[in-house]
Parts: sequence; structure tokens; C-alpha cells
Amino acid sequence: MAPSLLDSVDGLRGAVAAWRADGLTVALVPTMGALHEGHMALVRAARTLGERTVVSLFVNPAQFAPDEDFDLYPRNPADDLAKLAEAGVEAAFMPNVDAIYPPGFATTVHVEGVTAGLESAARPHFFDGVATVVTKLLLQCLPDVALFGEKDYQQLVTVRRLVADLDIPCQIEAVPTVRAEDGLALSSRNVYLSAEERRVAPRLFEVLSWMAAALAQGAPSADAVSNGRAALTAAGFTRIDYLAVCDAETLASVEGISAPARVLAAAWLGETRLIDNVVVNPVG
Ligand code: PAJ
Repeated sequence: MAPSLLDSVDGLRGAVAAWRADGLTVALVPTMGALHEGHMALVRAARTLGERTVVSLFVNPAQFAPDEDFDLYPRNPADDLAKLAEAGVEAAFMPNVDAIYPPGFATTVHVEGVTAGLESAARPHFFDGVATVVTKLLLQCLPDVALFGEKDYQQLVTVRRLVADLDIPCQIEAVPTVRAEDGLALSSRNVYLSAEERRVAPRLFEVLSWMAAALAQGAPSADAVSNGRAALTAAGFTRIDYLAVCDAETLASVEGISAPARVLAAAWLGETRLIDNVVVNPVG
């Protein structure tokens, strides 16, 4: 069955209230649409964690800088709704920009600490935009559980932080990164890659995995990072925004692995910026 289409906060609240009156639990999957198998892994996990699932599809202008791809960001609502219908999702929340940011809107949610560095260095506006819209979506829907992908690891950690700090009564569930067969993390922006860039793109995951293995064996972070940088450049990446070894919870950079860590990267192939990350588990 096709999901109910909701385009207003009142409509969303009404649908959730009706489910609550029937004693049903609710899962929310926030997205910007252009759904691929990575998003659908979140949707499928949501269906196992809540008795009713809401997927929001909203390309959030607040997380794009003026020179970024807001206008070009892929949008295909008809395909998205067909995928959600097939997955058995009950409701799709598709507000327009005014429904989320009405005239006079003047509030920003700003998370300190975990938002410093990494993505913020290249995209200083990004986490305020994400934190503000995610806070709004969680308060509009008040789900029992909301799901986020490990693909956007710093975003996941930021959402966990704001939910804890603002006492939002919602469980946050992480879903592992879904990859193409060759290892490339699925992303709505992969459509921008030329055939040649698409051929090189999986090297990012390959290099991160190889770094994680070296770190787990005791290699110092500085060596792993400098070898990783050289390997990415040799593979054809045109610019590396960051390549870092960080504590998995605080995202503080670490010299060696004594607690769970993550290797995180953002690198460019021509005009396309790819991000990815992998886990590093301490040995022993
Ligand atoms: P979007 O890029 O559409 O991603 C929506 C969710 O899908 C995020 O939680 C993201 O981490 C997850 N996701 C994307 N690709 C994935 C993959 N290959 N494997 C697993 N999960 C994947 O992230 C956003 O939208 C926005 O910032 C949002 C949170 C909706 C706020 O506007």
C-alpha cells in the first residue's frame, strides 16, 4: 500500500497521535530523498524496531552553503514513494521549505565538541543545519526510535549528542554503511561521478580498510594517515579534505588505538566530494 503523504507538521502529529491512541510504536527515518539501498536499509531496520514507520524526505536548505548543490541535489519523489510503498512504510513526510522554516524562523541548534573539525572544516554551516532540522523532525514526530546511517558518522555522533543534551525522549539507532559490490559507500551524490571517477571511487574504502587493519596491528596514526594520503593521491583523488583517526565516541583524534576508533575521510574526485569511514577495533 502507498504511504500516506503528509506535508504539514499538524498532519504528521495527527497521524502519530492516531497510532499512539492504538498503542503502536513509531520509528522515524530522516532523509533528503533520492532514496537508494543505503536509505532502504534504514527503512527496513525501522520496520523491525517500530510498529509504524515515518520516512521524512526534505532537502534541508539550512545544511547547504550558497555555493553547494542545493538546487542540483537529486530529487525524484515518484521513485522514492514507489520504494517506500514496496517497503511497507506507512507515512512519508514531505514538507515544503516554509512548513519547516516559516517566515520569522530564528532558532539554530548548535552542538559543540563533536562537530569540530572533519566535515566542519570544509562545511562550517553544515552541522547547525543538520542539528536544527533533526531536532525539529524529532520534536514534530516524537518517535520512539530514529535511525541514522554510519555512513555519515560525524552526523550520527552529533545527533546522539543533541538528543542526550536536549532530553529528547527518542532512541537513536545506527545502521552500518551499505556499499556497492566494489566497496563504494552508496550515496545520492554518486550520480555525479563520471565513468572514470566511478572506477576510482571504491579505492577510498579500500584505503580506509587497509589503514584500519594497520592501526589495529599497532601502526601509529600519523604513519597510517601519511600512507593513506599518498595512496589516495596515487589512486587519482584530486583533493583530500581530511583523513583522520578518531575516537569512535568523542571524535577526538587519537595517536594509537586503545579504545574503539574510526578512520574518517572526505576526498574529491573532480567535482564530487566523497565521504566514508570505517571502524578500528583495538586488538586484544
Ligand atoms: P541523506 O543524505 O538523505 O541520508 C539519510 C540517512 O541515510 C542518513 O542517516 C545517512 O547516514 C543514511 N545513509 C546514506 N547513505 C547510506 C549508506 N550507504 N549506508 C547506510 N546509511 C546511509 O543525512 C541526511 O540525509 C541529512 O543530513 C538528514 C539527516 C536527513 C538531515 O537533513
